[in-house]
Amino acid sequence: MSDRKPFLAGNWKMHKTVEEAVELASGLAEAVGSETGRDIAVFPTLTALPAVQDILLDSVIKVGAQTCHYETTGAFTGEVSAEMLKDVGCDLVLVGHSERRALFGETDEIVRKKLEAALRVELPTILCVGETIGEREAGRTEEVIKRQIESALTGLSAQQMATITIAYEPVWAIGTGLTATPEQAQEAHHYLRGIVRELHGEVADQVRIQYGGSVKPDNIAGLMLKVDLDGALVGGAALTADSFAAIVKYSEG
Ligand code: 13P
Repeated sequence: MSDRKPFLAGNWKMHKTVEEAVELASGLAEAVGSETGRDIAVFPTLTALPAVQDILLDSVIKVGAQTCHYETTGAFTGEVSAEMLKDVGCDLVLVGHSERRALFGETDEIVRKKLEAALRVELPTILCVGETIGEREAGRTEEVIKRQIESALTGLSAQQMATITIAYEPVWAIGTGLTATPEQAQEAHHYLRGIVRELHGEVADQVRIQYGGSVKPDNIAGLMLKVDLDGALVGGAALTADSFAAIVKYSEG
């Protein structure tokens, strides 16, 4: 067991009307209560963000956004800046989710700029990395996640590093029901922590690395037994209060 506090986060992706989001957030607040041994966050859509913030104001659950633009203001139709997220009291932002990379053309360079934008306004981030099935089968997992991590994190200060959480989300495990085994996840997390150590020294021992990809109430405990797994970034199973609360309250082995 490390002394890193477990961090469980729910990425709601493009799901939930405001009414549904409020219902989910209320259910979660009730189910999670005053849990302080674990950090908890949810990432609703932007349309539901203010309502979810209202509901969770007095709870232990933090509220974040799923992406941001890297510029402060300007002619970028449809986009929202890190400054704007900060302005509405957002606690966190996700950067570099594989769906953003694959479906919206986010390159390593764009991910880096988004991370810098979030750092500029001191908005804590979850930086997502992960390989596709083709990359894994070609034996390129380490090369790919090393490139993603180095591109995003090289040159940051230790103080900045301490505000960043990494999420290892193998693309082949997202939404497929094919969870990485605890051993596969541990291998990647250990490798990632080593890269962070090469870049930033001992702050690597404080950086939390979440696993994401088909995390469910019945597999979270097994994953969390592994020494370099510090939490989870959950998609589908974060969409109902019962299932996300069960993940948050996993029992330690
Ligand atoms: P699933 O839990 O639905 O596989 O999604 C994982 C994910 O992409 C979280 O960001």
